Amino acid sequence: MTMTAGSLFPAAFALGVALAGAALPLGTAHAGGAARGAQAAVLPDAPGKALVEQVCATCHGVDLLVPSTRTATQWRDTIGAMKTAGAKASDEEWKAINEYIMGNLAYLNVNKATAEDVRLVFSVADKVAQALVAYRDKQGGFKTLDDLKQVPDVDPKRVDALKERLTF
Ligand code: HEC
Repeated sequence: MTMTAGSLFPAAFALGVALAGAALPLGTAHAGGAARGAQAAVLPDAPGKALVEQVCATCHGVDLLVPSTRTATQWRDTIGAMKTAGAKASDEEWKAINEYIMGNLAYLNVNKATAEDVRLVFSVADKVAQALVAYRDKQGGFKTLDDLKQVPDVDPKRVDALKERLTF
């Protein structure tokens, strides 16, 4: 970290105060809702979950992360904003957090996505993501989940698992 503590601290402090004020209504809403007492259970089980809970729950509950219809692009902005707010993790940890959030929470428009976002959201090798994008561009886009399943090397089970989060 090369940022100066002097410029970061007041911002983090001000955000912390703002959040403390917001904690009450959030908590109240949840006390009467379906998520009661299940804060840690809302994130899907997958590698990186424990890390996300550890790093992202320092300032607010992980219930702020789900449910969410944020796209990969929006998540990238949100994660950037959390870093600015003072969220701390090593480069390796940020990589794992990013992979967890993109692979388990992010929505993706498969007709507009970059290969990088395809890689993260589909949780596939870079080579497979590049192949998907090349196939899409050659075909003139995807219309259905079945179209996606035709891409060589793409696991149809992964497509089904992602069906709620893919848009066309
Ligand atoms: C240093 C404190 C801090 C940490 C650590 C932190 N956040 Fe936040 N987060 C905040 C604050 C403050 C807000 C409220 C800001 C706002 O709503 O503008 C917030 C809001 C959010 C929101 C709601 C944003 C919105 O637009 O509704 C999401 C999602 C979120 N955080 C995700 C994360 C994730 C993911 C992590 C872990 C990588 C994380 N946060 C770690 C301080 C933090």
